[in-house]
Amino acid sequence: MAEQSEKRGGFGGKLAAILAAAGSAIGLGNIWRFPYITSENGGGAFILIYLGCILLLGLPLLIAEFSVGHNSKSNPVDAFSKIRKGWGWLGAAGLISVTLIMGYYFVISGWTVNYAVASATDSIGGNYDGFFVDFTTATWAPLLFTYAFILANHFIIMGGVQGGIEKASKYMMPLLFAILITLAVYSLWMPSGREALGSVFTPDFSKVSGKTFLDAMGQAFFTLSIGMGAMLIYGSYFKKGTKISGTAISVVSLDTFVAIIAAIIIFSAGVEDVKGPQLAFVAMPKVFSAMPAGNIWAMLFFLLLGLAALSSTISMHEAVTSYFVEKRGMSRRRGAWLVTGIALTLATIASLSMGPWSDFTVVGMNIFDLLDNFTAIIMLPILGIMTSVFVGWIWRKDDMKAELTAEGGIDKATYPFIRFLLKWVCPVLVSVVFIFGLIDFINGL
Ligand code: TRP
Repeated sequence: MAEQSEKRGGFGGKLAAILAAAGSAIGLGNIWRFPYITSENGGGAFILIYLGCILLLGLPLLIAEFSVGHNSKSNPVDAFSKIRKGWGWLGAAGLISVTLIMGYYFVISGWTVNYAVASATDSIGGNYDGFFVDFTTATWAPLLFTYAFILANHFIIMGGVQGGIEKASKYMMPLLFAILITLAVYSLWMPSGREALGSVFTPDFSKVSGKTFLDAMGQAFFTLSIGMGAMLIYGSYFKKGTKISGTAISVVSLDTFVAIIAAIIIFSAGVEDVKGPQLAFVAMPKVFSAMPAGNIWAMLFFLLLGLAALSSTISMHEAVTSYFVEKRGMSRRRGAWLVTGIALTLATIASLSMGPWSDFTVVGMNIFDLLDNFTAIIMLPILGIMTSVFVGWIWRKDDMKAELTAEGGIDKATYPFIRFLLKWVCPVLVSVVFIFGLIDFINGL
């Protein structure tokens, strides 16, 4: 066993585990998605519901996923089937979902690179909407940036767990935090910023509906990379002595911190008029352009977004690569190329669906929006329900308890609470929110 885990590779220590997992969690979900979902859903009211979802559902599920990986020291498919025969499909479903997410996530990642470059060279010009539309609906420009981003990912993955993922996280995460804090201090320093903030964070409960809860829950799962095998595979790389509960709490805290700070940066810019996914790409450059040395601030902002995206996409890539390496017997090189090839194909389709292929829609959505909505609204809740059912009901009680209390670092007094959350609260609450939110969503189509 010891020999096998050495061959598999793993993180060098506790800090590496936290940085890598926080890297997976902190991504476009925090900086691009959280602020616009918040502004669409009544600001402060949404944030309260979101925090509830993070604590009651996200944290226990993250602990569950780390535990399954850590216990089995395997790729997502084998991890479930080692613990209980016949459950490998749950890992496979996660990998399919994360592959679909890669399809559109890489496209937005590519945009961040173009925006960082265009900001640095001051070439966005005055027409922010026009720049966004022209760029994202073009054929080649967005594809090239997306391909460059996917290749950067590929080479990190090829470097291995310690030499690639861990090393990249150790450089990227501190840089990410430094940029984030710099931007936050600067935005709060502007008087207009402080004013704009108040209006966004004041709860508006009139905008809360069933769909709000589904959005909050979907966002909580998305931002913590739950149910997709990414956290599972990282858990499987934890070194002996890395506590699961402590790591999960650190990851959740860092992730929530970044989301709130990102919302502060964006809302303090007073960008309430621009809603939706364009918030970060259209409104932010406009705001920065009015500031002294605005193009530098804009460049920093898009660099932040790009770093966050990169540390997330390597965990998506790794989860799927580990499957091809361990389950299909491929070399790391071959497995990584295969995943890169799939990512290139899906990202090409998603990118073209914004422009040349935008006439092709399913239930009124282009492929890009379809991938986003299908994974966030449908797959994430189902995977969340099944993961909690697996850990709460299917995993042998004593084995699970041993994993969580001994290796996991949860003390005997807290354990029953976590178990109760996983056995009852998660499956029931997620199912209820899922069903009511879905009805709301379908009515709204
Ligand atoms: N957590 C990432 C973010 O907030 C996105 C994400 C969702 C993810 N599922 C994932 C990342 C699976 C890695 C693996 O942007």
